Amino acid sequence: MISGETKVYGIIGNPIAHTMSPPMHNAAFKELELNCIYVPFLVEEAGLVHAIEGMRAMDIKGLNVTMPHKLAIVPLLDHLDPLAEKIGAVNTVVNKSGILTGYNTDATGFIKALLDNCIYTQGQRVVVLGAGGVSRAICFALAEKKYEICIVNRTYTKALKLANEVSNMFNKDIEAYEMNEKNLQSILSEANILVNATSVGMDSTIEKTPVAAALLSSELVVFDTIYCPIETKLLKSAKNNGAKVIGGLDMLLWQGAIAFKLWTGLEAPFDTMKKEVSSILGLHED
Ligand code: ATR
Repeated sequence: MISGETKVYGIIGNPIAHTMSPPMHNAAFKELELNCIYVPFLVEEAGLVHAIEGMRAMDIKGLNVTMPHKLAIVPLLDHLDPLAEKIGAVNTVVNKSGILTGYNTDATGFIKALLDNCIYTQGQRVVVLGAGGVSRAICFALAEKKYEICIVNRTYTKALKLANEVSNMFNKDIEAYEMNEKNLQSILSEANILVNATSVGMDSTIEKTPVAAALLSSELVVFDTIYCPIETKLLKSAKNNGAKVIGGLDMLLWQGAIAFKLWTGLEAPFDTMKKEVSSILGLHED
């Protein structure tokens, strides 16, 4: 029941219609019987400043932030968590007595999903495909955990720029390559983990894979950040070749679960959140 004491949370972005976050968080609030509600807010670029003023004025307790606001929101906040500050991007805001603090749970959610599925060894070599926003959070998170990173992107200059930024921030060498079959073949022969942070495998490229099946050895851990479809062509090929695979749904759920804990101080009911999102995506639990 919504009452005068209901605490309001939400997500701001544009577009926002297909976000999984409202059902995920509302299912969690219901499970823990919290008097809280989570709603989507369509906020255009020009409206971001007003939206954050509104968050303060209306005492909205927490927000998730998605495209196109993850970078632009940074100067509007009072404090930043150190990792969010390094990345320069925020996807979660906590409002504590009017003080707004920004976090990046995309980064911490990625690491949680990875470590939930494979054993951590410092210095493991990770190949990250893509150099956009998702890749950026992942590369900073990996560098903080002292993985060795190689960024591979269709547009080489973007890979190089991101590699330089991460390299300067963490004072470590990060390799950058253009994405082509020859480069992938030699890079993947020495890699432990492959992460797809491109959009290849979803929407209009659902039938495509960023890496040919022949290059996916059984020794690799293959992580696809795409969650719709749940099993991309890349993951199917990797699984067929005997590799360990991790899907994007785990990352989506963990970024949400970590945000939930930041807002409420409580452990998120992960299984409830997973069940809710899975049923919307039309999946069957394994
Ligand atoms: P996001 O915030 O989801 O990371 P983005 O910033 O638009 O989105 O980045 C998308 C990534 O997917 C980029 O690395 C992009 O490569 P370019 O930098 O060359 O544009 C990559 N990408 C998109 N479509 C691709 C395709 N057909 N083949 C290879 N890479 C592709």
